[in-house]
Amino acid sequence: MSTLSPRAGAPRAARRRAAAVGGASVPGPRPVRVALLGCGTVGGGLLTVLERNRADIERKVGRPIDIAHVVVRDAGKPRGPAVPAHLVTTRADQALADPGVDVVVEAMGGTGAALEYILRALRAGKTVVTANKDVMADHGREVWAAAEAGGADVYFEAAVGGGIPIVRALKESLAGNSVRRVAGILNGTTNYMLTRMTRDGSSLEAALAEAQAAGYAEADPSADVDGLDAARKLCILSSIAYSVRCRMADVHVEGIRGVSAADVAYARRMGWTVKLLAISELRDGRVTMRVHPTLVPVAHPLAAVSDAFNAVYVQGDAIGDAMFYGSGAGALPTASAILGDLMDAVRRHGTGVRQTECTCFYRRPFDGIGAVPSRFYVRLLVPDRVGVLAKIAGVFGRSGVSILSVLQGPTLAAPEGPGERSGAAGPVADLIIVTHEVREDRLQRAIAGLRHLEAVAGISAVLRLAPEDL
Ligand SMILES: NC(=O)c1ccc[n+]([C@@H]2O[C@H](COP(=O)([O-])OP(=O)(O)OC[C@H]3O[C@@H](n4cnc5c(N)ncnc54)[C@H](OP(=O)(O)O)[C@@H]3O)[C@@H](O)[C@H]2O)c1
Repeated sequence: MSTLSPRAGAPRAARRRAAAVGGASVPGPRPVRVALLGCGTVGGGLLTVLERNRADIERKVGRPIDIAHVVVRDAGKPRGPAVPAHLVTTRADQALADPGVDVVVEAMGGTGAALEYILRALRAGKTVVTANKDVMADHGREVWAAAEAGGADVYFEAAVGGGIPIVRALKESLAGNSVRRVAGILNGTTNYMLTRMTRDGSSLEAALAEAQAAGYAEADPSADVDGLDAARKLCILSSIAYSVRCRMADVHVEGIRGVSAADVAYARRMGWTVKLLAISELRDGRVTMRVHPTLVPVAHPLAAVSDAFNAVYVQGDAIGDAMFYGSGAGALPTASAILGDLMDAVRRHGTGVRQTECTCFYRRPFDGIGAVPSRFYVRLLVPDRVGVLAKIAGVFGRSGVSILSVLQGPTLAAPEGPGERSGAAGPVADLIIVTHEVREDRLQRAIAGLRHLEAVAGISAVLRLAPEDL
């Protein structure tokens, strides 16, 4: 089997060992052989960076890295110059069964064949490096069980935050902390769209079209726009942060489809910027996880994360606050994360020392969104007449919701939103109420009361503010 490892780049240590000793030559360290499953954006990026930095990479890990197979769906597709054409194959079975393969890098995506190959490789004792958030979030238990069965390692830095080294940071550098909150901008597409809406006043539809034109959004953007992509990443980070198995079913997920240009503009006027935040918290031994549009104070570091960038804000008892920022996707940033994992795998190869195993050793209760305390921004469409505010304040008061501030102005937008009721006769105005912190179920009780109030022509938006101690 031919492999890809230009010897010119072999590490000096390896070459020294291969040099003659007393006339006899001793072999250098055996190369670590890698099967790459998938050679699209991420797999192609990996090969590009590996070739570009090979000499330094191999010097750092002390042995050559050979790409032995590049498995794809369509072997006839043109690939970049970094892809060794003679290694490209559609025969995944052959690559996985090759006893000489030490590490399998999975960059195919999806939970069909990719999951099957990952499980097979791990059970056979091969280290797996994957960029696959769907597999890690939805099938983490099976993956870790297979790793245990095969005595193998599984690495997944690239599955969350692209190039941002957050998985390793939580697993290792911050492992001594008791983490109380993780709050992240984990989806570049929605962050790009919200940035356009904030900077240019674009509508959601226009921002989506721009994101698609710039190559940040898929033709079907629902996984991003509806918050599912961020939710999967939050599951992965929260599992590590709180040592508990987190499932998608435990995440409250709201995407950005309900965010209007008017709310972005009002928020700006009031000193906030709208971000799709993925937030998980550990409080009194209980975990909450949620993804939703959030009003973040403009002075907060997360508010400055714009365009397609990602960031993860971690709050721990020892570190205090720490933010990790960078490119959350793309060929080379994601390759950077995969290479970090691959290099760790190569260093450990043959030593018998595994990396950190699954640390989901607690069973903790999860609370739904109803139990989460937040401050809320509620935009109502109201008839512009005397006495309306008092009636609305009465509904909030009876629901146990305390009002922090009220802003009234001519409408910036036509009424919108799922809670809409039309039919107001005469002039109407936007009324924006910001509440003190209150459990979500109480706020929802107040919203239900407002729906029946004649003084409210429409409930245009209900948004949460970022936690005060974020
Ligand atoms: N793109 C990013 O910026 C990014 C960032 C972080 C994580 N990720 C994750 O990385 C993974 C790959 O993403 P990508 O953007 O690189 O996808 P992609 O560009 O669509 O590439 C997928 C690759 O996998 C191959 N493939 C798909 N199904 C296969 C099958 N059943 N058998 C053999 N080969 C198969 C494809 O072959 P062909 O080339 O022949 O079609 C292609 O080479 C996904 O899990 C994704 O979530 C991506």
